[in-house]
Amino acid sequence: MDREQGKLFLETLKSLNMEKTNFLNLNTRFNNIFVLLGCYYFTKKTYKYVNNISVYNWIKTIPWIKRYIQKRVDSAIKDIDKEFKSDHTFINTLPQNGYGVNDIKSLQLQYKTKRTYNYDNGVVSGTVYYGSNPDLTNLMCDTVREFIYSNPLHPDVFPDVKIMETEVVNMVKHLFNGNKDTCGNLTSGGTESILMACKTYRDWARDNKNITKPEIVVGESVHGSFLKAGDYFNIKIVTVPVEGSSGKTCIKSMANKINKNTVCIVGSAPSFAHGVIDNIKEMSDLALKHNIGLHVDCCLGGFILPFIKQTGLCDHEFDFQLPGVTSISVDSHKYGNSMKGSSIILYKNKKLRKYQYFINTEWNGGIYATPTIAGSRSGVIVATTWASLLYHGMSGYTELAIRIIKLKNHLVQAIKTIPELRIIGNPATSVIAVDSEIVDIYLVGSKMSEKGWNLNILQNPKAFHICLTSVHVKNKIAEKFIEDLSYAVTYAKTHPDNKKSGTCAIYGMTSTVGDKSIVKEVTCGFLDSLTYSS
Ligand SMILES: Cc1ncc(COP(=O)(O)O)c(C=O)c1O
Repeated sequence: MDREQGKLFLETLKSLNMEKTNFLNLNTRFNNIFVLLGCYYFTKKTYKYVNNISVYNWIKTIPWIKRYIQKRVDSAIKDIDKEFKSDHTFINTLPQNGYGVNDIKSLQLQYKTKRTYNYDNGVVSGTVYYGSNPDLTNLMCDTVREFIYSNPLHPDVFPDVKIMETEVVNMVKHLFNGNKDTCGNLTSGGTESILMACKTYRDWARDNKNITKPEIVVGESVHGSFLKAGDYFNIKIVTVPVEGSSGKTCIKSMANKINKNTVCIVGSAPSFAHGVIDNIKEMSDLALKHNIGLHVDCCLGGFILPFIKQTGLCDHEFDFQLPGVTSISVDSHKYGNSMKGSSIILYKNKKLRKYQYFINTEWNGGIYATPTIAGSRSGVIVATTWASLLYHGMSGYTELAIRIIKLKNHLVQAIKTIPELRIIGNPATSVIAVDSEIVDIYLVGSKMSEKGWNLNILQNPKAFHICLTSVHVKNKIAEKFIEDLSYAVTYAKTHPDNKKSGTCAIYGMTSTVGDKSIVKEVTCGFLDSLTYSS
């Protein structure tokens, strides 16, 4: 979401804020407070008997309130649509005759001018992980050209791509101390790797433990894709809290939540939001004790941790050396510096991985079998991932990882000198998350955004993070970042009532909207607008 979209989203949420006070306003408007009080009294009574329906949810079903809310949501969504259309004339039908190559190229450049952030100058958190090495870019472009139309769905036609995929999996499994039984596949990204792992545990537990109501126990710090997996695959995701200020999943709570329906537990190495590594060793013991799976999400840390471990800069345990670890997701399209659309899912053995597969033997198009979600895939992703791994080698990735860790350590020390800020947990690799009990951290985030930084805004608790990449290393961002952060904190301290802007304002507002289903509906409108024109 960029600033303009953010502004609009914010206005929308403001107008939809359905907290108690607004309800009273709404009610005054309809001059009907007695009806509402009556409803409330009646609902409170009913609530004793129907304890899974909140008072608010019940009130929302009153027809005129329902209509009012829907009207506001619809108009908000319309506004979002309008905003997206405003300054661009979309092409909505195929041109009768194709454009010339030069025309297409110039149109591409014209579209690119719409970008507000120049990610290459180090102001964007995460997003693009690679520090513009022309040598590697040329290699990638040449590889794209060479494998442009290849499709690994047909290994008979593209045996070359099959070899590359095998080699990618082998190299990565070696990094994670896999043995001859360890196996895996390339997927389109961290989310697909995680979806695959969750489906695998669901089906493994169904066939081997007769579990028909599968549950996965995760710390609240796990990536959102586990929640998505629960939704897609009908798995109950049981969330346990993180321990105090360490940001690590509470192992005791995790142990308490494991029951006869638990198919696996999950640890992050490190977590997306706070960059903290869970106690994977203790999770491994738990998994062994209960004969359940343990997935380690190394999507973010996968191309940093193994390298710094070898240099002694990291003493965490996170890989197949721990006997309870049964799968690991590793994103090559993050610190592996490959193109987007590339991740590896590894399993302890083939006996487990087979539950990832989809196989239908009756289809009239033949036996339909795919290892992951995709059918046809681009061989370009396989080939560029393979090229990137070979290009960097152990020494290349180690050097990049050490530089990122050094920058992280430098920033952590500098942030610690700002007394109003608190770093969440112990940032393990590249993510530093900060919150505050003294200043409004979203106001600090707003000021950082006004200074041109594109940071990740977090909630529960309110915080933001910067995810450091080679781009930040290359741009030597440390001094400027700390200078701007100090300014932003001072500003927030001296102007506590100042308005927040951009994404910070949105999160500030969503935290006050009592009814999250409204936030969900407007977010749905936002997603619609991503591809809406005419
Ligand atoms: C820890 C972690 N897991 C999973 C993912 C999902 O990765 P992707 O965006 O490639 O689907 C991310 C993304 O940032 C992540 O940080």
